[in-house]
Amino acid sequence: MATADKAPAPWRDLLKSHMDQTPGYEFTIATVGFDENQRPIPRARTCGCRGFFPEVKLHPKSQEDMEQQVKDGGNPDTYESDMLCFTTDIRMEKLDQLETSGHAVEAVFWLKDVMTQWRVKGKAFAIGDPRGEDVEREKDARKELHAFLRVKKNYDGSIGDWTWDRATTKYFANHSPLARGSFKFPSPGLPRSQDPKDPALQMGQRVTDLHDPVARGNFRVVVIRPEEVERLDLSDQEDMRRWKWTRSSSDAEKDQSGWIETEKNSSEKSTWANVTLLLLKQDKPTGSTSDTMPVDTSASDNESDKIHLDQSRKDVDQAVARVQGILGTPSTSRSTPTRSSARIAALQRDVSTSTEDPTSSDTLSATQIT
Ligand SMILES: Cc1cc2nc3c(=O)[nH]c(=O)nc-3n(C[C@H](O)[C@H](O)[C@H](O)COP(=O)(O)O)c2cc1C
Repeated sequence: MATADKAPAPWRDLLKSHMDQTPGYEFTIATVGFDENQRPIPRARTCGCRGFFPEVKLHPKSQEDMEQQVKDGGNPDTYESDMLCFTTDIRMEKLDQLETSGHAVEAVFWLKDVMTQWRVKGKAFAIGDPRGEDVEREKDARKELHAFLRVKKNYDGSIGDWTWDRATTKYFANHSPLARGSFKFPSPGLPRSQDPKDPALQMGQRVTDLHDPVARGNFRVVVIRPEEVERLDLSDQEDMRRWKWTRSSSDAEKDQSGWIETEKNSSEKSTWANVTLLLLKQDKPTGSTSDTMPVDTSASDNESDKIHLDQSRKDVDQAVARVQGILGTPSTSRSTPTRSSARIAALQRDVSTSTEDPTSSDTLSATQIT
């Protein structure tokens, strides 16, 4: 059941404003395919994003087509949603891939004008079969999506006036006659030397009939039901930030929209290199467990991590010098290391093992330098 009381997803307005600031945006749509040995393989391609389903602002010419060819000029303004959509042709591979992979999808935008990457992971369903709910796949897809439609706050008409058919017709109308004609081009992948056989399938056709049976037979709107949304903000190179939201079924966690913010800002996740920096910056007395910062022992061997590790070596060298200043330099003539020299040695060893062995559980915390 579509509901009126659900709140919009917490990330929706921001993503919408980012899209509005980026004229003519595309996104990458990733699906899961299978190779000849039935092993899963990633498949990705560029598609034109058509915004949040079912709201689409028509060009005046397309609006005119709707008014002339569709009952009441189309649907009333009943619903909104947090579901992004794009249009496609059933003869392309992505729709079969959705069917055979449990509808798994990820959409990725790089919106350079706002220096932000958005990733939307979820399930995608194709609608628009002109045979309607007589076809099981169309019936199931509508059912999956219907629960995620939200009645608009100011809508006071009857919900029954809205139909799926008019919703998809509006997306078809939103294409130019030539673009509509592409849905009756010869099948993608067919050699140009080969006769398409079906005389209805020809290149360069223009379609003005919004119910053209051949074009509409191939046309579909793919609607993405999001489950996890990630925003990566690179606008400040010195303070890159990441947020993540997850749709939750747990009443205890979710907000009114059904989402929880699972990651607020990656810079809050303190790595052990940061711990060193914090120690140096804050100059705190050590020894209490409250000084111990959360430590992320995961590491990778990529270049940026190496830079961080090099930096942290320097930081530790400085920390060692500071500790030595307080405790006194350990004497090299002693056969048994002192408590402080052993700790300094351990500290230096921690840095080198962490550099060489990313899985090392040896980590540096403020309490270790006591
Ligand atoms: C700028 C651009 C926009 C595109 N828009 C779409 C689109 O909206 N829908 C679509 O199905 N394919 C679109 N394509 C083509 C796809 O990238 C892809 O080639 C096609 O969908 C076939 O992919 P598939 O067989 O893996 O499904 C676009 C390509 C480009 C370069």
